[in-house]
Amino acid sequence: MTPPFAPKPNPSGSDPRPICVPCRLAAIGAVALALAGGFAYAAGWLTPARLTAPRIIDTFEAVAGPHPGYRRNHAKGLCVDGYFDSNGNGAALSHAAVFAPGRTPVSGRFAVPGGNPSAPDTSSPVRSLALQFRLRDGEQWRTGMNSTPVFAVHTPAQFYQQLLAAKPDPATGKPDPAKLKAFYAANPETQPFQRWVKSHAPSSSLANAAYYGIDAFLFTDAHGTTRAVRWAVVPDTPYAPITAAQQAEKNFLAADLDERLQHGPLRWHLLLTVAQPGDPTSDATLQWPDDRQRVDAGTLVIERTTSQEDGACRDINFDPTIVPAGIAPSDDPLLAARSAAYAQSFQRRTREEALHPEIHRTRPNGEPS
Ligand code: HEM
Repeated sequence: MTPPFAPKPNPSGSDPRPICVPCRLAAIGAVALALAGGFAYAAGWLTPARLTAPRIIDTFEAVAGPHPGYRRNHAKGLCVDGYFDSNGNGAALSHAAVFAPGRTPVSGRFAVPGGNPSAPDTSSPVRSLALQFRLRDGEQWRTGMNSTPVFAVHTPAQFYQQLLAAKPDPATGKPDPAKLKAFYAANPETQPFQRWVKSHAPSSSLANAAYYGIDAFLFTDAHGTTRAVRWAVVPDTPYAPITAAQQAEKNFLAADLDERLQHGPLRWHLLLTVAQPGDPTSDATLQWPDDRQRVDAGTLVIERTTSQEDGACRDINFDPTIVPAGIAPSDDPLLAARSAAYAQSFQRRTREEALHPEIHRTRPNGEPS
């Protein structure tokens, strides 16, 4: 009779040699070590000099100081809601549902760059608008746009160096002009941005600025043709430069926006600019020539504001690589770095909110929210 637990005969007829127990343990240990090593490498612990998202965000924190619960860059801002009315023209470039004729709800956020949520509005000449389009097929399109058509730097490493160069000197509380000058001299790619900022006074309002996606993206149409595209939203409200009185005010941008919205919604046109072969897609410091085809895809309508402490935008990570089918990121190296850095900033601020819900019961300037 065969004992109930006798080993089964090996059908191949070869010798089923058992693997030794220490060898098995060593193999398991090696896999665990490799996994731990992989995590440690990804976190940057093995290569402290490597540029990682946590390192970039640590540097933002070192430059602006601790502001728990707030975005590590573009920290000062407010939430907005509205919609996008597509006229259907964008469908010639992308089969994304947002370009079919009709209305798409939008939540967004106006902000000024920098890591301090109570900085004066004049602390930067740049304003920003981030948008989340909620498409009818359940997809989302998220974008973060600045009020300059070019970015200051070409690579994430340069961005990091610029951040270090702008770190306030403890003696003066302001960036050391010599360090900034040295950074700009060593990085001539920054010249188009500097020229643009010098020749364009900041707008008097968030409502009369144009906002540019800056990075290139790839649009694929219904026939499968892919083209490089950059987008911008251009205001119906005529541009006017910042006034002398506004220069002296700390928080004029939010007050101005609320006042304008009391008289009705504000509108921008979404313009899609199509690259020609050879136009750079991986360098956000370079504009494409002015004669490139432009498609007016419809109207962005902003209807109301809410505070960033309790509005819809608080819990949105405006990661620019979250795009619907029909749009894809280009080879611009800033895009992957932005995605990683925004995720790190989002993780830290939402964790702080969860652990300390009281931080958003008052706004950074002390007013109740
Ligand atoms: C390597 C380059 C860049 C890095 C590391 C970086 C980093 C960041 C970080 C950490 C945030 C805060 C995100 C959050 O917590 O939600 C942020 C916000 C933002 N960035 Fe960038 N950024 C980069 C390039 C750019 C570029 C090229 C643009 C313009 C096209 C841009 C536009 C914005 C906007 C509009 C916001 C505000 C988003 C919001 O209102 O929530 N950034 N950036």
